[in-house]
Amino acid sequence: MIAPSILSADFSCLGAEVAEVEAAGAKIIHIDVMDGHFVPNLTIGPIVVEALRVKTKMILDCHLMVNEPEKMIPWFAEAGADWITFHDEAASNAEMLIDQIHHLGKKAGISIKPNTPIEMIEPLLSKLDLVLVMSVEPGFGGQKFMPSALQKVRWLSKQKLEHSYSFKISIDGGINLTTIVEAKKAGVEIFIAGSAVFSEKDRAQSFQKLEQAIK
Ligand code: DX5
Ligand code: ZN
Repeated sequence: MIAPSILSADFSCLGAEVAEVEAAGAKIIHIDVMDGHFVPNLTIGPIVVEALRVKTKMILDCHLMVNEPEKMIPWFAEAGADWITFHDEAASNAEMLIDQIHHLGKKAGISIKPNTPIEMIEPLLSKLDLVLVMSVEPGFGGQKFMPSALQKVRWLSKQKLEHSYSFKISIDGGINLTTIVEAKKAGVEIFIAGSAVFSEKDRAQSFQKLEQAIK
């Protein structure tokens, strides 16, 4: 499944942007939350998630690139997020955060930056619904895909196979018509695409081309 990331959308008409990809067949929309501390950029708060919740039936996939995620998790749950992903690097107790998200009735994801070894999250795999592998340094859209992420995806696929874990493998950053094929081969199940959808003139067509590339 492809999840368009609104980071590259035109925020002056966000409702229309989201409606366009939903009409094109998107089932998930990726929402990048940045706090200006964990990453050097500042983006979306719960108020935007709340507004989108009313406008769309798509899964709202909130990627929290924030320090002290435990403070913000309840805000985004309340606003209507379906999936809440925090960064392992920002978590003092990742297991507690997963439990917190589950107690709020949401799916829990963990994300790791390019320089964080994937093995760090091994003890958490049985509890997770989603693992979001960053294939760029988090903070900005439109960066170049880092192939080192594929090694992590292969490791995750192997873990899933060996232990029958149920988490989904997602990749975020630099996904385009070429890299999406490599990511699929490595075992990615959910592909986040920002600029490859929203920086193109025809959003629906760009989304469908990405879908075709992995059929
Ligand atoms: C980057 C964000 C991504 C971003 C990806 O920190 O987490 O979700 O939107 O953008 P592209 O697809 O343009 O690399
Ligand atoms: Zn993201």
